[in-house]
Amino acid sequence: MKILVTGGAGYIGSHTIVELMKAGYDVLAIDNFDNSYPSVLENLAKITGKTIEFEEVDIRDKAALKKYINAHKDIDAVIHFAANKAVGESVALPLKYYENNVGGTVNLLEAMQEANINQIVFSSSCTVYGEATPPVDENAAIPVAQSPYGNTKQICEEILTDQSKACDLKVVALRYFNPVGAHESALIGELPIGVPNNLVPFITQTAIGKREVLTVFGDDYPTPDGTCIRDYIHVVDLALAHVAAINYLAQKKYTEAFSVFNLGTGRGNSVLEVIKTFEAVSGVKLNYKIGPRRAGDVVQVYAACDKAANELGWRTQKSLEECMLSAWQWEKAIASSSVN
Ligand SMILES: NC(=O)c1ccc[n+]([C@@H]2O[C@H](COP(=O)([O-])OP(=O)(O)OC[C@H]3O[C@@H](n4cnc5c(N)ncnc54)[C@H](O)[C@@H]3O)[C@@H](O)[C@H]2O)c1
Repeated sequence: MKILVTGGAGYIGSHTIVELMKAGYDVLAIDNFDNSYPSVLENLAKITGKTIEFEEVDIRDKAALKKYINAHKDIDAVIHFAANKAVGESVALPLKYYENNVGGTVNLLEAMQEANINQIVFSSSCTVYGEATPPVDENAAIPVAQSPYGNTKQICEEILTDQSKACDLKVVALRYFNPVGAHESALIGELPIGVPNNLVPFITQTAIGKREVLTVFGDDYPTPDGTCIRDYIHVVDLALAHVAAINYLAQKKYTEAFSVFNLGTGRGNSVLEVIKTFEAVSGVKLNYKIGPRRAGDVVQVYAACDKAANELGWRTQKSLEECMLSAWQWEKAIASSSVN
């Protein structure tokens, strides 16, 4: 099978390309390098031993996207990662998010329909659940989104549902919890541009000396140690879930045209637990301080993952220790080379 990966130079896309190629799939990738670098493709080639079939395409450019897809009519399925993902930026620049995340998805679906490509795996997010009581399963209510970014994920799921009813499209929407860590080679990983919004890159950047101090936003939450709880999933486990989703589509295991799965570990870890785990695996004492709560932070969220286990035959294999160690090795690799 031939799989098109949009956003293939990005964090999750690049790890997914490795696992797809390992599983024997042919892969094509597109990206506009809005949040990634061409060097990712060279590093993917080093890991896989193959040149990545890549073209620079912006999914907002409908004509260019259609031209590309029409020239590759043998694509069997698309994995759609390309999007902007910074929650805070989406509040300041909502139209950027609606244009890219929603408009880009519409362009992609139109191009796929014209080329008779009728299988798609979509990157959704646990953010669609807002403040749900964990463990959160796929039937949890979807409240009004708290940010334009979250709204784009809700809207795209609705568009995909509608399109799957209107034509012969099969959809797997994957709601990721908190992806962290990096490939064991330390050749690919997350490259946050500017100040990271997420905990783990902030930890590793503080440990390496790029940031002076890590602020823990609040230690007076109703959790055992007072800090917020999240479900941290290793990016390689996440990548493997995409392979499982493609297998699920290929083997027609679905019972409905639109299927949705949570991707998490099913385990919640507090901010302080993550910090302690990092210190233990890296041997580095982290400079952190407790600050006030941050507006908009949910107290605790972690996934119920039974559906993915039962239907996709997938569950996570990697521990929090492996997440933190690989993130640290990646941060050190960035510091010692010119990966970007
Ligand atoms: N990382 C997370 O914490 C997380 C959590 C839940 C969901 N997601 C979703 O997963 C997907 C991948 O996230 P990621 O962490 O790999 O992000 P990323 O920014 O590393 O990767 C996205 C890639 O898409 C590319 N891109 C953006 N707009 C594009 C466009 N118009 N045309 C072509 N390429 C474009 C970027 O250059 C980047 O390489 C996104 O849809 C994101 O919303 C991510």
